[in-house]
Amino acid sequence: SLWHLFERDRLPERIAIIGAARHELSDIDFRRLIEDAVRTHDNTVDEDTLQLFLSLFSYAAGSFDDEATFRALAKAVEDHESRFAMCADKLVYLAVPPTEYETIFTNLAGVQLNVPCGGEKGWTRILIEKPFGKNATEAKALDMLLGRFFKEEQIYRIDHYFFKEIVQGIENFRFSNNLFEHGWGNELIDSITIRLNESIDVSKRGAFYDTVGALRDVGQNHLLSMLALLTMEYAPHGNTERIRARRAEILSTLAPWSERTLSEETVRAQYDGYTATEQVAPDSQTETYFALKSELMHPRWRGMPIYLEAGKALAEARKEIVLTLKHASPCSLCEVGPHEPNKIVFRLEPRDEIVIHFWTKKPGFEHTLEERTLSFFLYEKENKSQYVEEYASLLYHAMLGDQSLFVSKEEVAAEWVFVDPVITAWQKHKVPLLRYAPGTTPSPIFLKQLQHEMPVSRGMVGIVGLGKMGGNIARQLATKGWHLVGYNKLPETSKQLADEGVITYATSLKDLAAKLSTPRTIWLMVPHQAVDAVLAELVPHLSPGDTIIDGGNSFFEDSKRRAEALVKKSIQFLDVGVSGGPEGALSGACIMIGGEREVFEQHEQLFRDIAAPQAYQFFPGFGRGHFIKMVHNGIEYGMMQSLAEGFMLLKEQYPDLSLERVANVYNHRSVIESRLVGWLENALQEHGNELEHVSGSVDHTGEAEWTVKSAEHLNVSLPVIEKSLAFRVASKKHPSYVGKILSALRNQFGGHSVDSPDSNNKII
Ligand code: BG6
Repeated sequence: SLWHLFERDRLPERIAIIGAARHELSDIDFRRLIEDAVRTHDNTVDEDTLQLFLSLFSYAAGSFDDEATFRALAKAVEDHESRFAMCADKLVYLAVPPTEYETIFTNLAGVQLNVPCGGEKGWTRILIEKPFGKNATEAKALDMLLGRFFKEEQIYRIDHYFFKEIVQGIENFRFSNNLFEHGWGNELIDSITIRLNESIDVSKRGAFYDTVGALRDVGQNHLLSMLALLTMEYAPHGNTERIRARRAEILSTLAPWSERTLSEETVRAQYDGYTATEQVAPDSQTETYFALKSELMHPRWRGMPIYLEAGKALAEARKEIVLTLKHASPCSLCEVGPHEPNKIVFRLEPRDEIVIHFWTKKPGFEHTLEERTLSFFLYEKENKSQYVEEYASLLYHAMLGDQSLFVSKEEVAAEWVFVDPVITAWQKHKVPLLRYAPGTTPSPIFLKQLQHEMPVSRGMVGIVGLGKMGGNIARQLATKGWHLVGYNKLPETSKQLADEGVITYATSLKDLAAKLSTPRTIWLMVPHQAVDAVLAELVPHLSPGDTIIDGGNSFFEDSKRRAEALVKKSIQFLDVGVSGGPEGALSGACIMIGGEREVFEQHEQLFRDIAAPQAYQFFPGFGRGHFIKMVHNGIEYGMMQSLAEGFMLLKEQYPDLSLERVANVYNHRSVIESRLVGWLENALQEHGNELEHVSGSVDHTGEAEWTVKSAEHLNVSLPVIEKSLAFRVASKKHPSYVGKILSALRNQFGGHSVDSPDSNNKII
């Protein structure tokens, strides 16, 4: 985080950073540790900048209870002060168990390191990590302890969630717009759900986690901090005291628990295998999951349920705040078809985004509604490092002296008032500790009551082929309320998806047809070589009016032939090209659809649910979807080739050039800014300039060949695409750096192996 600040010129001009801990390390050893940490997160470092940065660090070894250690620390500070010829501002950051605080504070005070320089001359501040005690009483004792050595304006209690972009964005979403704030409260909003669901387990943190549990680890702090920001009354930006008071005020209106609500509206659970975690008690009753239902008694919010949920080893990493709005009343056309309430979602994972779900007229002659989303992505890059940006921002604000995003003792107290009774009830076994299998999410009854948060069933679809693409399409459709019946040649794959709760498992194509309601819709996602065989086996079990959607990369002439044959049997057909790789299939792909308009319109909701916003188009005529996708892939070959050649040239001219940074700058407003350049940047970041472990031979699939053939047929010349294809064919015998770039790119967007050409016909 310090490096993040240093690189962006956000550290003070004169600064020294002193590490203090038990291990015997020299300054050089310490700098090496820092260097490793920097390089792990950032492999584009500018060497001179890094050396300058490392020179800021020094180390003082010793133990917390040894006064001599602190004298040495004070001496080191003094040395820097005389070098700077001034009394320095001091920021003390503690990453120690709270049990050590008293000893450390006492010893810091012994050498006056808790005392600011005074007046205009400067400050001393202390950064404290959670947990702020383990209950209200301990928190108070901690405050008293801190109070003995520091004034409140010196104390910075950390909740790193305040430093997440999305969380900070809540203030401006509410108070810098005139969109929703007027109704913001129980008039407009039906319920608030805040969840911090993690797929990671407790891993190596057993010793810490077992003493706190999920509720104290993330509920008492992160979830309630987010709730406070969402529900607090207005306070002017920059007015620290008012902001913190507003947050504490709203938290202090959390409804008091009763015997009934404690037993009916709190749930705790532990995942199987948790007690085998290192340093966890074998009979541990610590919860690794919780869900709570509560309410704020503030007039603005009274009566509106609040759901809080968090845990480890759950089915998916999902961190979000969902505001479900009241149903419109009166509501035009809402009685026709499913009409879910509007939602506003602030999402931190799987990606940072703000999404508004709303209903609008479906274009066309009929007057019907369709659900649309307005989404606003805050980050384009997906490989953020946990904590780095948040801690950079929090250190920066601590240096600026902006306490508004640090927790006040009043907030901490209000949080414990809410959490303590729950923990006590759990400790008294008033609520059973449920079990869940790792990789699944318990679903307490009262969360299920949130019907409107669960998607309304959109209908049934069969999916044949559940590989990287088909599997992810299924996952995406399942979250949008489709009931899926899945078949895959290798049963393990479909069994796994069935275990995930994504599909109903079909043992054969016949079984798939039998399990689907009619008229059936079946999406094929199989290699083009397999389509005829699948149809031969499947079609005898279908009925007139059923629809086959071929979403794979089939040759368009084959699709035309298949369409004709199927139409004769009154089976409808659409040929569909899907681009965007497995990631797109999971979170929004680009879709090109060919066939008959009426059939497309019957299935438009399905396409809308698989596509990224506005990322699908219909082209009337059989074969056109696949033709357009085929040409897309031909173009892709040419674009990738020219990118790879250009980067090879860059490297030849300047072997020491950071190609990752070149890709980065190209991708900021240049004419060639593109997803491909972004992927190239990621690949270079992942594998380094030399792409050392990436194969220089690159595979090719059918589409470029078909593109070239189709062009020949029309007497059209395509020299770029043709040569790109020829390059790939030749690369098997002549690996090269250009080949490495192509392999690395295919790996980024299609998940293809970087090792060596693989002959599977994967859809990209
Ligand atoms: C920490 C908790 O405060 O927050 C961890 O101790 C949790 O258990 C983490 O994993 C989640 O933070 P983030 O920034 O990854 O959402």
